[in-house]
Amino acid sequence: MTPPGDAASGDISETDRALVATTCARRAELELRGAAAFTVITQALIDLRADSRIVELSARAIAEEIRHSEIYLELASAYARAAAARPAVAPIAAPRHPGVADDVRRVLHVVGMCSINETMACAFLELCLAGATSRAARAGLREVLSDEIRHARIGWAYLASPGVMAEVKGDVERGLVPMLCAQLEGWSRQIAMLPPGEAVAHACPSREAIAATTVQSVHDLVVPGFASLGLDVAGARLFMAGQAPCPACGRSFEPATLGAG
Ligand SMILES: [Fe+2]
Ligand SMILES: [Fe+2]
Repeated sequence: MTPPGDAASGDISETDRALVATTCARRAELELRGAAAFTVITQALIDLRADSRIVELSARAIAEEIRHSEIYLELASAYARAAAARPAVAPIAAPRHPGVADDVRRVLHVVGMCSINETMACAFLELCLAGATSRAARAGLREVLSDEIRHARIGWAYLASPGVMAEVKGDVERGLVPMLCAQLEGWSRQIAMLPPGEAVAHACPSREAIAATTVQSVHDLVVPGFASLGLDVAGARLFMAGQAPCPACGRSFEPATLGAG
């Protein structure tokens, strides 16, 4: 467990202490789901005959996500001044992507989880770190962030592998808006579940700040990432601007409602 330091004995109100403990316990659960997701991603990369270095990064990510869960559990316990309960592991449902061939679905799983979700996670962690002064929280989040950057690269590196883009460009272009829509929907649900309030110094920004960073990360990192690989991202830009609905679910994206529940 994190030794009692600024996390447990610093200048923090009981309300904020409870908020941070609850938030970290929740993140511990989400990180475990990340581990489960990377078992799916690793199998997908093996089936796709991805370069062994990319498969290795993904296989390592399974254990790294479990480590992230432990980091957050330690933080939750330090802030709560009591051992936080281990999160239950719930089965995860990989996106179905109906109507596509199995290999295309594998590619979309890798792209959705790594290139999109983990890139968004990096922006979220950078936001958390930007305001954090708690040494315990900073140390934990720095370790998580350094791994998540690598996890995002799994997706980008796979797409940039020799011969891959020539085969999957059209499929990824068609899947891009539905993947962005699903990821934003997932992030929105999680943000809406956050307790109200903030404890910025302890790496818990407000819902509003997280929602703004989430949207910004898609604009500034995710969409340009696909554009730099030569994908046509015009549809993604229209979707993000709220000017075209998702072709899969028919919903239009409204940035103002992200995380509003
Ligand atoms: Fe993680
Ligand atoms: Fe990750």
